[in-house]
Parts: sequence; structure tokens; C-alpha cells
Amino acid sequence: MHATEAMDELMTCRLEQVRKAVEPCTLVIFGASGDLTARKLIPALYHLAKGGQMPAEFRIVGFARREKSDASWRAELREALDVFSHSQPVDEAVWAGFAQRVHYCQGDLDDAAAYAKLAAMIAGLPNEALQKNLLFYLATSPSQFSVVAAHLHEAKLLHRDASGNWQRLVVEKPFGHDLASARELNHELTRYAHEQQVFRIDHYLGKETVQNILTFRFANSIFERLWHRDAVDHIQITVSERLGVGTRGGYYEEAGALRDMVQNHLMQVLALVTMEPPVSLDAEPVRDEKVKLLSAVRRLQPGQVAGQVVRGQYCEGFVGGEAQRSYRQEPKVQPQSNVETFVALKLFIDNWRWAGVPIYLRTGKALPVSASEVRVQFKPTPNVLFAAQCGPLLDANALTLRLQPDEGIALRFTGKVPGVGYGLRPVRMHFSYDSEFGAYTPEAYERLLLDAIAGDATLFIRRDEVEQAWQITDSIRAGWDGRPLEKCEFYPAGNWGPHLADQLLTQSGRAWREPYPVP
Ligand code: BG6
Repeated sequence: MHATEAMDELMTCRLEQVRKAVEPCTLVIFGASGDLTARKLIPALYHLAKGGQMPAEFRIVGFARREKSDASWRAELREALDVFSHSQPVDEAVWAGFAQRVHYCQGDLDDAAAYAKLAAMIAGLPNEALQKNLLFYLATSPSQFSVVAAHLHEAKLLHRDASGNWQRLVVEKPFGHDLASARELNHELTRYAHEQQVFRIDHYLGKETVQNILTFRFANSIFERLWHRDAVDHIQITVSERLGVGTRGGYYEEAGALRDMVQNHLMQVLALVTMEPPVSLDAEPVRDEKVKLLSAVRRLQPGQVAGQVVRGQYCEGFVGGEAQRSYRQEPKVQPQSNVETFVALKLFIDNWRWAGVPIYLRTGKALPVSASEVRVQFKPTPNVLFAAQCGPLLDANALTLRLQPDEGIALRFTGKVPGVGYGLRPVRMHFSYDSEFGAYTPEAYERLLLDAIAGDATLFIRRDEVEQAWQITDSIRAGWDGRPLEKCEFYPAGNWGPHLADQLLTQSGRAWREPYPVP
């Protein structure tokens, strides 16, 4: 074996040995009959078990209103695994061992007697760690978060000071619907649990490529030197989806793209791409830097919103050749709804590193492709040498972090077209996760569940982070001021939002770049 390959292998082995220390525990999933449990949580837990990463002893208890037995819930989950497990076929031996540890507790979320039943069930588990190390996963509607926490506390299942044992609450988004409600929710939850026991999930932080942003920036020496206002012209972050809202109209009518995507996923990606290096990779230093960054994002005054934020809603159209109905025709959507399904915005970060560098974000449903990318657009060279051959415009360098799909990183630069003349053309150097590491990338929920079990909060959102992000999006909403959408804000499905979104960049001589095609 070549020396470099041997070294690579050694490094990889060392990294694999860094397994999380996980103690025996019981996971209780509230909202166990819901979509998230069958689609994401159980497949993730099964894969962790298959990979030998779950604790030596664990139990999973599903809590929901519908009447079910352990056996019928296990059978349901087994069927769902066939559909949602990313590595087919399911290993029956692993499943058999896993299923034995899965139980069901029927009850209403606001019925104290149901929590007493749950407590009795947990007390009957065979050892103290299973009875007292408890992870409560709240896959319920946010309005139930504090109700569940209060009942758990009353039933003596959730303690603020559990000596020698631990109890944690994992809460799904949306965490509030504005700053005031998020503060209220934070206040309620911390009546029953310390902030360190509350794990707020943003599944984008569980994605390999999102985690790789910090590695890319801080484990390499060449890029970080250029990562600031002297070298960067602007940054674009695109999270686009081809699908419309489908069956989620009821939820989406309350959320809209700003609350559904910008407040959480886009703000998190923005923070990782632009924050300062943390002093270590522990939870608090990483989250401190994200909070610092979010607090430096300039809040918009209501009068500035029209100039810096474009919203849109899809109407009928075609996405990839398939007909897509308009948002207003989707199930559970008001026929005159003014909810935005697209947002594009220009932000500024008022700190030393980024002063004056525009940061453009866009996200939406029913767009031409599903792709999430960060593009760092560098400043152009002074075009004195090649102007005669190529005209005034040379394409500036750009670095694209492709978060999904076809995960990878591409560096765009200018090369000479071979031949006797002096033609220049942009070319790309491309790194692909698949070709380098093989096709399997763990699902975001695997990483996040394992971290929550291990008590590592690095990839979870802290209270002040959520509040900072709400301040930013609330300042935008204040500028919309409940105004109905105008005609120019509608876009045919399959387009990149309304034309106004292009003007956001063209007014300063810039342009959105389409996500790069799969090589
Ligand atoms: C969710 C949003 O948080 O993220 C959805 O509620 C969105 O509306 C989804 O579709 C996107 O996640 P991913 O992992 O498919 O990019």
C-alpha cells in the first residue's frame, strides 16, 4: 500500500474509534403515531442499532392517543421500515432484537393518568438506568410542548436536578411562531428542565454536508484566508424544493416559507458559513459564535423590507414537465391565502469580517430543482490582461458547497481553452462525497438522536440562538404588515420565484446562479 493511502486509512480508523459514549436509557416518543416517527425516528434508531451505536441496553416507548398494543405498533413500524429505511433490505435479525425493546403506551397528552401509566411502565423496566436516564422526544404540535413537560414533571419523570441520572427533552421545530411566543415557550420549558436538558432540533444541522462547513473552513488553511470582505463579493444561499406543499397545507398556512425555512435552516447555514472560529468544538463555544453572528445580522426597519425582501406564492405551472396546481388550490389552503411559498432576501452582517458584503438567501416550493447550495462569490481580478481577448467581463472565482443532493464542493476558476488562440472559459474543480466516500451518508436524524442520547448539544439550537433568529424574521414580517400579495408576487410553479427576486441582485450588477448540474 502506498504510504499516503496507509496514512489516510489510519486517520479514518482513528476517527471511527471516536464513538460517542452512550449510557443505557429509555426514549419516549410523544406523537408516536405521527409521520415523523415512522419516516425518520424509528428508521434512524434502527440504523443506529444496526451499526452497534445504540447503548448496550435501551427501550423505546411510543406514546400516542390511538389504541395499539406493543405487537401492533411493532408490526406497523416494521412495515414503515420497508418504505423508509435507506438501506434495503431490513436485517431481520437486527430488527428482531430491536423490536423486543419497543413498547407502546396509549394516552392523551393532557391526561395526568396517562403519565402515571407511563411512569409505572418505566418503573417496571429491568434496571435503574433504563428507569432514570430518559430522553423525551416531543414530536407533537408545538402547542403541546409545555403541557407534556409539565405532566412529565408532575409524574416525577422529568427532574431539573437528577443526580447521577439524566432526563432530556428533544423538541421539534417550529419553536414558537415569533420572538414573543418562542420566549414564552422557552420560559415554560425551563420551569421544568434546565436549558442544558432542552435539545431543540434543526435537522439541517444533522446533515453531513452542513457539519462539513466547519471542517472545510477550519481544517484547511487555504480558504479561510479568503473568507472575508476583502476577497468575497457576496454570498448566495439557496434551498430550493421542487415539490409544492402537498398534504401539509394546514401547517404551512400558519408558517409560510419565512417561518418554515428561513428562521431555522437558512439562518443555521448562514451562521455556520459566516461565524468566527469557535475556541473549541464543544457545544457552548460553537453556539456562542453562532449567536454572535446572528446578533450581528442587521435587522430591517419596516421601510427597508420592500427593497431587501421578495416574497412570492406559486400559481399553476409545470415542474420538471409535471403539472403542479397553485398553492391556493392545495388541500387545507385558503382560496385567497396570502401565505408566502418563496422568499428571497438580501442581508448584511455588521461585523468586522463581513461589513458591506451582501448575503443573499432564497428558498421556496415548486421551484425548478431541489437543491441546497452555498455559493461564495469572490471579487473579480482587475481585468487588464485579458480584456482585449475576452471583453470586459471575466467570470470571478466562486466556491460552491453543495449541501444536497449530489453532495460536494466545486471551485470555479478561469482556464485557457486549448488551441493557438487565447480563448478563456470558466472551468470547475469538483469534489464529490459519493466518489470519495461511497454512497451511504447517515440520515440527519441518526446523528442528532445519537448526540441527544450522548448529551452532546453542539448540533442543537440554544435558547438565545432561536431568539436571535426570530428577531431577524420578525423584522421582515413587520415590514409585510399583513399586506396581501400583489400580482407581481405570484410565480408559475417551476420558475425561480417572482421576477422581483432577480432584481434584488441585478440592481447591483449581480445575478443568482443556478445550482450546478450533476457532473
Ligand atoms: C422542513 C420543512 O423543516 O424541511 C419542510 O418544514 C421542508 O417544509 C424540509 O420541505 C426540507 O428538508 P430537506 O431535508 O428535505 O431539505
